[in-house]
Amino acid sequence: MTNTPQTLTLIQPDDWHIHLRDNDALATTVPHACMSFNRVICMPNLVPPVKTTEQATLYRERILTALDKADIPSQRKAEFDPRMVLYLTDHTTADEIARAKVSGIVQAVKLYPAGATTNSSDGVTDILGRAGVFESMQKHGIPLLVHGEVTHHDVDIFDREKRFLDEILSVIIKNFPELRIVMEHITTRDAADFCLAQADNVGATITPQHLLFNRNHMLVGGVKPHFYCLPILKRADHQKRLLEVATSGNPKFFLGTDSAPHATHIKESACGCAGCYSAPHALPLYATAFESVGALDKLENFASRFGAKFYGLPINTSTITLVKSDMSVPEGYPYLDGKSLTPLLSGQTLAWSVQS
Ligand code: DOR
Ligand code: ZN
Repeated sequence: MTNTPQTLTLIQPDDWHIHLRDNDALATTVPHACMSFNRVICMPNLVPPVKTTEQATLYRERILTALDKADIPSQRKAEFDPRMVLYLTDHTTADEIARAKVSGIVQAVKLYPAGATTNSSDGVTDILGRAGVFESMQKHGIPLLVHGEVTHHDVDIFDREKRFLDEILSVIIKNFPELRIVMEHITTRDAADFCLAQADNVGATITPQHLLFNRNHMLVGGVKPHFYCLPILKRADHQKRLLEVATSGNPKFFLGTDSAPHATHIKESACGCAGCYSAPHALPLYATAFESVGALDKLENFASRFGAKFYGLPINTSTITLVKSDMSVPEGYPYLDGKSLTPLLSGQTLAWSVQS
């Protein structure tokens, strides 16, 4: 036995699904994301949403201004690269997709079914009616990122992902077989197996919370609002299947935290909103999940290679080191004007930390 702490050096990861929010929130979210990730795919569900390349360009500038002001090492600042996403609406045009392509900063287009989640009221009401836009995305090689849940009120919240696969996603794939699609934050065995059954142009991101937790963590012994996200945590057997595919070495599955900040008082309310904040400790969380099934050796591909490969981007050249040494997750971070932001597993101890 040796007392030397176990270390795990990874190619610097990218986060292929993150919510940074906007304006004052960026002072908190950007430094957190930047300390772990090089490229981050910035979700466009702002109020109002990021619908055009012009809006995406301005949003990116606000993120970079926050980065500039942040008190973090200059090397991290130099490597941080926010990649932008357009929010698909009933009014998005094929021309907008062509503009996105030439911009060089828009990486993808996001499909939120109207009403599916936070700030999705401008989402698409007639998904299969967006054929012209999907055609243009397929032609320009712009990936479609999918929040895969139907939103009909009569569909049980635990069945919404599977119904989306059966009724919507399979039709999109049939009609646009070359369209690159990322099934975002998958939560079920059905979604994992659906993804596996598709060609290489269909991949999926998996969050730390869906690998580490199931609905018992959220609901047994009292309702725990900081585990509430969308798609909602499912049964333990779905969690187990997600862990299997994430650690399988299959390049279809890669890291996307879906880190989604909401002020603590808004989460801890009679009608709390959906989202887990994981950006500051996402890598220790993923390491914990991978270690739980003896698959730490699979983490680097999942976190640092497969997403870049899917997006056709180079693999990063810098590295980050995780150490098997306790990390206390803070109770909260300062957020907005005097408010607090409660991270996932606040106040608890993780067995891994990021080497400073
Ligand atoms: O839990 C979630 N929070 N899921 C989403 O799809 C959106 C996100 C947010 O923006 O808060
Ligand atoms: Zn999200």
